[in-house]
Amino acid sequence: MSAVPGANPLRDAQDRRLPRIAGPSGLVIFGVTGDLSRKKLMPAVYDLANRGLLPPGFSLIGFARRDWEDEDFAQVVHDAVKEHARTPFREEVWQQLIQGMRFVQGNFDDDEAFETLKATIQELDQAQGTGGNYAFYLSVPPKFFPKVVQQLKKHGLADQKEGSWRRAVIEKPFGHDLASAQELNQLVHDVFPPNEVFRIDHYLGKETVQNILALRFANTMFEPIWNRSYVDHVQITMAEDIGIGGRAGYYDGIGAARDVIQNHLLQLLALTAMEEPGSFHPKALVAEKLKVLTAVELPEDLGLHTVRAQYEHAWQGGQEVLGYCEEDGIDPKSTTDTYAAIKLTINNRRWAGVPFYLRTGKRLGRRVTEIAVVFKRAPYLPFESGATEELGGNALVIRVQPDEGVTVRFGSKVPGTSMEVRDVTMDFAYGESFTESSPEAYERLLLDVLLGDANLFPRHQEVELSWTILDPIEEYWAEHGKPAKYPAGTWGPAEADEMLARDGRSWRRP
Ligand code: BG6
Repeated sequence: MSAVPGANPLRDAQDRRLPRIAGPSGLVIFGVTGDLSRKKLMPAVYDLANRGLLPPGFSLIGFARRDWEDEDFAQVVHDAVKEHARTPFREEVWQQLIQGMRFVQGNFDDDEAFETLKATIQELDQAQGTGGNYAFYLSVPPKFFPKVVQQLKKHGLADQKEGSWRRAVIEKPFGHDLASAQELNQLVHDVFPPNEVFRIDHYLGKETVQNILALRFANTMFEPIWNRSYVDHVQITMAEDIGIGGRAGYYDGIGAARDVIQNHLLQLLALTAMEEPGSFHPKALVAEKLKVLTAVELPEDLGLHTVRAQYEHAWQGGQEVLGYCEEDGIDPKSTTDTYAAIKLTINNRRWAGVPFYLRTGKRLGRRVTEIAVVFKRAPYLPFESGATEELGGNALVIRVQPDEGVTVRFGSKVPGTSMEVRDVTMDFAYGESFTESSPEAYERLLLDVLLGDANLFPRHQEVELSWTILDPIEEYWAEHGKPAKYPAGTWGPAEADEMLARDGRSWRRP
């Protein structure tokens, strides 16, 4: 039985057996004309409806500046679903979904538009039976978060009425440093109760990320070696082959470390390094994540153990691509990082002295996210000299994407008359072991928002701690010179290789 106050083991046991279906509710998307909405949110809504996980009267309201009628909005959703949905298109599902679709035109400082939104919600409550339950999804540039939240308060849209709920869903980055994140947290908590605030880190919605906990805590064979006695170091990589696309306005000034390390990679680090929680109740899980994030220490010399860089014009996969500073909408003198690598350590008994290397970048060799736990070499090798020349360290690699699964690398005898040992791998692939394809991260997270399940959403303390880790690095970079360079399509700058070589290690080529 769980020792966590508030956890209800009977209810939890029931939940696991019953499909998790959202009750009467609706979703309002601010910034509905953006990329995220078209590629991820609209398809996720459809996929949930298609899987029968949304209530029959579910309503979707788009809010943006475009001069659209409801029909134009529905057409955009239709096209987005056709192009990006994970599950097949079914006309009857679509016809039901479209009943609850509305569009509200306006700016974020337009009081009249927020009054129209209020009236639209009331109309949908009547027509669709949404019961006053609404989630407001802020898929807008961070500078607009405060305004939208204030407007929701001013127009009574955030009022929690007896028997219904209002929730805020906030996209990352949550602030651009500790001070701004604290300010934003204060502002949001002034409008919505803490348990109705859902900060999105979509990596936590990925099946493979949730599997880190299953792998570690549902098995006996990994945990005993998951510590400084056996682990040499850990590499967490999130590489993308794409550039910044049409996101210059968002990306410039933010950069790779704020865009990815502060959230996705530090969350991956927390899940990889934390202690076992007493249960998966949010309080227990968050407590362990906070403990490990608090124990993170930066290297003394940030010049030697961090690297930031920008991609340069090159040929990538047979295509000529622009350098970052030549991209549309980017200041040619921009010092924004498109690549960042940092070394961290964790001050506790389990991890003392084990480096965690985190790296991320745009326009790298290929798209891959993985966590590689690299083990120490055997203390003694009773082989003839040369027999183990091609033996690397044992490694356990959690392949977050693509090609989701887990790989174990170890040494094996090469067939033949002599004793020669070489690295081989053993693989688990999701696609081969399970017939059902994994839901998209946004599908899972949107459903959780509608169910009020906050387990996969970072709490404000986690967000603030992550900024505490990143802020000194960003300050150091701002004061010290310019980013290094790397040709598009490569695995990053030479400086990043040197950073690991200094420690006698090298980056994996995933
Ligand atoms: C987002 C970042 O959080 O994650 C983007 O803002 C990045 O810059 C994206 O491209 C990558 O997500 P995924 O799920 O494709 O790894």
